[in-house]
Amino acid sequence: VTAEKGGFDHFMLKEIHEQPKAYRDTMLGRIDESGRKVVLPGLKLSDEKIRSLNSVHVIACGTAYNAGLVGGTAIEQLVRIPVMNDVASEYRYRSPLITPETLVIVVSQSGETADTLAALREAQANGAHVLAITNVVGSSIARDADDVIATLAGPEIAVASTKAYTSQLIAFYLLGLYMAQVRGTQSADDVAHVIAAMHSLPEQVESMLAQADTVKAYAEQIASHEHLFFIGRGLDYSVVQEGSLKLKEISYIHSEAYAAGELKHGTLALIEEGVPVIALATQETVLEKTVSNIKEVKARGADVMAITHEENVPDLLKSVDQALAIPKTLPLLTPALSVVPLQLLAYYAALARGNDVDKPRNLAKSVTVE
Ligand code: AGP
Repeated sequence: VTAEKGGFDHFMLKEIHEQPKAYRDTMLGRIDESGRKVVLPGLKLSDEKIRSLNSVHVIACGTAYNAGLVGGTAIEQLVRIPVMNDVASEYRYRSPLITPETLVIVVSQSGETADTLAALREAQANGAHVLAITNVVGSSIARDADDVIATLAGPEIAVASTKAYTSQLIAFYLLGLYMAQVRGTQSADDVAHVIAAMHSLPEQVESMLAQADTVKAYAEQIASHEHLFFIGRGLDYSVVQEGSLKLKEISYIHSEAYAAGELKHGTLALIEEGVPVIALATQETVLEKTVSNIKEVKARGADVMAITHEENVPDLLKSVDQALAIPKTLPLLTPALSVVPLQLLAYYAALARGNDVDKPRNLAKSVTVE
């Protein structure tokens, strides 16, 4: 069994460490030789169809839904088309407005999630083109979808999804860039600039993994708490939703992810002396606003850990108790890096609490009942 885990103590840790490879594999063959253009071989979605679209729906469950939040923002920013995200179990039953001009993207690691499969069928019955982002090419979702972009993360064994999530982000970036090329919403130079930054991501993840001990030490601090909060704005908010889900499912610590600016509308009442707050503060355009939200929780006694870029650390340390620096990339791509310390945090917190990391209580790897 240790051999299967490639020398790691758990599948989850192995899979976290496989992310640089998963990024490279998911990009492989999808960028042309010049390195300036995305190509998606085998895509049935025609240029004409892409031009005719008036909206995109991104539908999934759990971690795949969280990846869709980042993916939806990427498509909205790159393609300037309205994007709606929903969890599959809600989407299906609320008569969503689906037309042949809607692109429905379903996201699923396993490709077997019953709710996601049912949502796919609902979308097709309404005439939409359904594109699946999945890690299992022979799965039910891959078979039934009109198009598939495979994430090449390799088999994911741990119940807590890690490399599938980040590979889904890569798939979304590629799809967003591809659609932007067709619709002419980004210049060729801008596309090339994003691609170049994507090529640096695997190495940047490796550099973060080499510093896992800092996260481990912090995880041991929070392991004795029963409640904690994650805050962030914009893409940081999307990423903390994934960080919070990961922490809950394997450490059993109750946590909530909040849009930093929304705290004062209710949740701030829960902040008291010593409550850990993890603030993800990587998005420069809203950094100052996030800092004011950090000050709001600090003033109520919270113990704040900030995750940000190196250059912001000295300033942030004036308002927080601890800070962790992550490498710099384009704001749009930052989720592919900033989620890594949150995955490690969940892993080491679960470990410190003596939990079964790979097989958390009450959960199954693939949910094939609605
Ligand atoms: C991830 O850590 C969870 N175990 C879970 O939320 C999962 O992402 C969800 O059930 C969806 O699974 P899928 O990607 O296989 O469709």
